[in-house]
Amino acid sequence: MLSSPASLARIQRIAATPGKRALHDLVSLPNQKPVVAYGPPGRSAVTGHVATVFGCTGFLGRYLVSKLAKAGTQVIIPYRDEDEKRHLKVMGDLGQIVSMEWDLRDENQIEECVRHSDIVYNLVGREYETKNFGFRDVNAVGAGRIADISAKSGVPRFVHVSHLNASQNTPSKFYQAKAEGEELVKDAFPTATIVRPGSMFGYEDKLLNNMAFWPIWWKLNHSETKIRPVHVSKVIVPKYTLVDRLAQVFDVAQALTNLISVPSFPRLVNLPGPSTLTYEYLLELISTVTYNPLSPAPTVPKAVALALAKVSQNIWWPTLSPDEVKRRYIDDSDVAGDWDAVGVVPDEIENHAITYLRRYRSSANYVRPVVLPPRAEQA
Ligand SMILES: NC(=O)c1ccc[n+]([C@@H]2O[C@H](COP(=O)([O-])OP(=O)(O)OC[C@H]3O[C@@H](n4cnc5c(N)ncnc54)[C@H](OP(=O)(O)O)[C@@H]3O)[C@@H](O)[C@H]2O)c1
Repeated sequence: MLSSPASLARIQRIAATPGKRALHDLVSLPNQKPVVAYGPPGRSAVTGHVATVFGCTGFLGRYLVSKLAKAGTQVIIPYRDEDEKRHLKVMGDLGQIVSMEWDLRDENQIEECVRHSDIVYNLVGREYETKNFGFRDVNAVGAGRIADISAKSGVPRFVHVSHLNASQNTPSKFYQAKAEGEELVKDAFPTATIVRPGSMFGYEDKLLNNMAFWPIWWKLNHSETKIRPVHVSKVIVPKYTLVDRLAQVFDVAQALTNLISVPSFPRLVNLPGPSTLTYEYLLELISTVTYNPLSPAPTVPKAVALALAKVSQNIWWPTLSPDEVKRRYIDDSDVAGDWDAVGVVPDEIENHAITYLRRYRSSANYVRPVVLPPRAEQA
């Protein structure tokens, strides 16, 4: 996928010799801006790239920022809440993480955030509505606005993160807004790359964590809904072992990071997980890995779940929304993955489940061995 052992040795030799230059140090940007990378690979290197990551304070955003910064890319991190971006500041060397306050509706602030960047990532998304922002405001209109301003500011590369199930032909308003967002981005920035991940799992995910907390709401549709979970990993490529370690890091954040250096910029990258699994299997996986018994809760009928979700919208904190209830009945798209285009291979959920689920074990079971249920892959 990446390099032969001989070229690995060569890269490591060059990396271990500060001051020595090679052709790969010269980074050519699409806008002809001359950029020279320097320093051994790692936190104190400079790749020469400047990236803006909108949505950096979210689940996927933190790992993307971390991976970009650890490779020596300067990262602009637009934020809304002071406390939400503090953990990002230490992910890169001094001066490499630049935070800027922004509002999705303020064009001047967006322009300031993208002005110096040669790649802009838009990870902004919200799967529920608030009193200030509807699905379209965040996932469609906002995305189009960022793409438009980036194009007008001369940014050469734009990456928009959508959703594997983005479609106009779906009962979910969220998926419809994601599909509209893709169109608005393509109109404003015709060479943009649209990335469509499946349901993502990792430390701060809304999949395994939510299933472990609220199994009853994953029993909708008799747990027969099929999804293609895909990994978001915290593993960072460390200094001097770039090629070795990259071969073990198979996740969405790494795919986005690699987009900065792929020679041909793809227009559409589907990133489903490697396997199609039912909610039933995932609930069983969580139960087996955590040694907690399966929830005996019955399946709530769809009409009741919709009514309860509607009533719960009056509470001020986010709860299961009616649109999310509808999404629990929609299988993930069976489209083929484009992992080759971004130089990574997706990893199975069983290989990482214990990492994210150990915290749900009781103290008595905390260090017990990892047991997995028999695989029930759905064709
Ligand atoms: N999680 C999944 O399973 C999954 C699957 C497929 C696709 N996606 C898409 O991938 C992207 C990243 O997902 P994620 O799980 O990392 O999402 P997340 O944790 O919910 O983070 C969303 C990000 O968007 C920002 N945001 C939301 N509404 C905003 C608004 N009105 N104004 C400004 N910023 C706003 C949030 O900023 P604040 O911190 O300021 O709120 C946060 O940084 C999203 O577009 C999502 O739709 C997610």
